[in-house]
Amino acid sequence: MIGTNTPLKTLAATTAKNFQKRSGKIASWIAAAPGRVNLIGEHTDYNDGFVFPMALERYTVIAAAPNGSNKIILTSSTAEGAATIDLSKPIKRGEPSWANYVKGVIVGFQRLGCKIPGFDAHIESTVPLGGGVSSSAALEVATATLLEAITKKKLTQVQKGLIAQKAEHEFALMPCGIMDQFISVMGKADHVLLLDCQTTKTKQVPMKSKSVAILVINTNVKHELTGSEYPDRRRQCEAAAKALGVKSLRSCTLADVNAAPSKLTNIEFRRARHVVTEIERTITAAKAFASGNWKLAGDLMYASHGSLRGDYEVSCPELDDVVEIAHGIGLKGGVYGCRMTGGGFGGCCVALVESSQVKAIAAKIAQAYKARTKITPSLFVSRPSQGATLIKG
Ligand code: GLA
Repeated sequence: MIGTNTPLKTLAATTAKNFQKRSGKIASWIAAAPGRVNLIGEHTDYNDGFVFPMALERYTVIAAAPNGSNKIILTSSTAEGAATIDLSKPIKRGEPSWANYVKGVIVGFQRLGCKIPGFDAHIESTVPLGGGVSSSAALEVATATLLEAITKKKLTQVQKGLIAQKAEHEFALMPCGIMDQFISVMGKADHVLLLDCQTTKTKQVPMKSKSVAILVINTNVKHELTGSEYPDRRRQCEAAAKALGVKSLRSCTLADVNAAPSKLTNIEFRRARHVVTEIERTITAAKAFASGNWKLAGDLMYASHGSLRGDYEVSCPELDDVVEIAHGIGLKGGVYGCRMTGGGFGGCCVALVESSQVKAIAAKIAQAYKARTKITPSLFVSRPSQGATLIKG
């Protein structure tokens, strides 16, 4: 019922082995970066707000070796055939689409004046693809970590996160905030990251208690953020901020928003209300997690979901089903809270549950979800894990 997390060491060894099979070379460099789950603080990053994600024990690993040419030859365990990047020409986005994340990061390093030599590389990942747990950020950050080793250009954590984010903007055309790339870089074992997206100031909040577990429930409804929904939400927030006379919604309180409904369209009003209340919830939740007040943390997760569903309109029936089922199991059954996580419109929910009951909870959610939707969900548990690492090189 609960999926296993392949240890990073094992995944790295498999990646190196498959790299050798495909390229005939022994890996000179192996780099890894994790996916993430956001515990609370959704659609707040591009509003200069707070987010509270943790790195997952799910990683993307790249093994590579020089090939003496001016080409990069990429393979991936999840795709047929190879992608070739010609380094003698300006790099442009194109097909296959999965290679765009790698291309974008290479361009970021080229802009820093780094000369990238030709190499062969192979990618393996245990981060669910398109599940709203940042498989793309994991690939971007793993690539950046690999290129740091190849070019010997050491970036600061913030620089690295920003290069990865820019790759997503320019090569995947997804105008994301900074959360996913930053947590993939900065994740720390047994800690959740409280990130102030206005200042990039961070606080690692310890989450060492073994009495609670983070359960991720993938609805297996594909999350597609390349549609207009995400950029639309960004624009609506910017319009609301402008109408309220502030640079970003971070500068507003709920009272400011409530006092100005005539300045805002109904949609802008509701988007702004989500953002300002979600920022508040995130600050409070970080304190609740830090002090082990699981009941309060869980209540804030439910409230976050309600706001994302009602005011921000980024949920979907399947995500709502999972949250409703989890709520039905309730405190008596060991569930403190549950909410959608990531951009929305499918993908995953995250639940805070009692460790001793996690198996029974997972079974109940899976069974009830299947009965309602006819879809088999995927579930896994993760402790907060470490961010990007260079395993070899
Ligand atoms: C996506 C984006 C993030 C963030 C979330 C919503 O995951 O990549 O930057 O905006 O959606 O919180």
